[in-house]
Amino acid sequence: MKIFVTRRIPEEGIKLLRRHHEVEVNPEDRILEKHEIIDALKDKEGLLCLLTDPIDAEVIKSAPKLKMISNYAVGYDNIDVKAATERGIPVSNTPGVLTDATAELAWALLLAVARRIVEGDHFCREGRFKGWAPMLMLGRGITGKTLGIVGAGRIGTALALKSQSFSMKILYTSRHRNQVLEEKLGAKKVSLEELLRSSDYVSLHVPLTDETYHLIGEKELKMMKETAILINTSRGAVVDEKALIKALREHWIWGAGLDVYEHEPCIPRELIELDNVVLQPHTGSATYETRSKMALMAAKNMLAGLRGERPPNCVNPKVFKSRV
Ligand code: GLV
Ligand code: GLV
Repeated sequence: MKIFVTRRIPEEGIKLLRRHHEVEVNPEDRILEKHEIIDALKDKEGLLCLLTDPIDAEVIKSAPKLKMISNYAVGYDNIDVKAATERGIPVSNTPGVLTDATAELAWALLLAVARRIVEGDHFCREGRFKGWAPMLMLGRGITGKTLGIVGAGRIGTALALKSQSFSMKILYTSRHRNQVLEEKLGAKKVSLEELLRSSDYVSLHVPLTDETYHLIGEKELKMMKETAILINTSRGAVVDEKALIKALREHWIWGAGLDVYEHEPCIPRELIELDNVVLQPHTGSATYETRSKMALMAAKNMLAGLRGERPPNCVNPKVFKSRV
């Protein structure tokens, strides 16, 4: 069968696919336009796509032979899963293999904002360091503080577990109780409002859905402590970006660390001009180890789907229930 890969991914994934199928990889290292994806899919059974590819109902409708969509990401808000399900097309993602990498990046942002690492680096490079000073670049302590995890799934749990050496108090919101966090860290499940009011650090780990769109807006930012720091490594639109800019400018909160933006790749100028925010270009899963594992996982999902089997990481298993 024929597979289209929308952009070059680590070679092990492509190699595995090529052992079984004919694979066309976008030859250019850039995000494709929707019409280019539609053109490429005319004769393809498999689509291996990225979170930057909007695979909407129109794309799915115009791919007559499409049998399998394998997303190279854990988040799959870029895909109209309902439209795929209606066509009986399985959709898969890459959970688990990027959990630690993403939790590590959230920690990197948290530490960078709290201790003003990026500002300090610029300060040194600009030749402004004139000697140790009692009031130079004071930041926020971490040990013993309260960490609020919004969405205690795999990544949120990993982030919390990594806080152990900082002896932090853990609050979390989640649909279900998280026994690991409660037993290992004495974490407490609370309402979003209580979490925002009580946490020194708030880290977001929910998928982007209709319910989590703008979960953190003006009202929520105003509930946070003036000394609090917000970390977002999930999806940009979970936060109302305009409200966040206002909050950072007017110091409703102390700082933010962002890996994701509401309208990627656009980063608003207002954010760029602020020095109480650390910006990262959506690199949560960007380690050599993790990206290779994601490539293999996405390829294995694709192979299973094209064989007519349920892919190991299928997000719409309903597709298989309706078949006898
Ligand atoms: C990255 O953001 C992912 O969803 O894998
Ligand atoms: C995503 O993988 C999550 O469950 O946090």
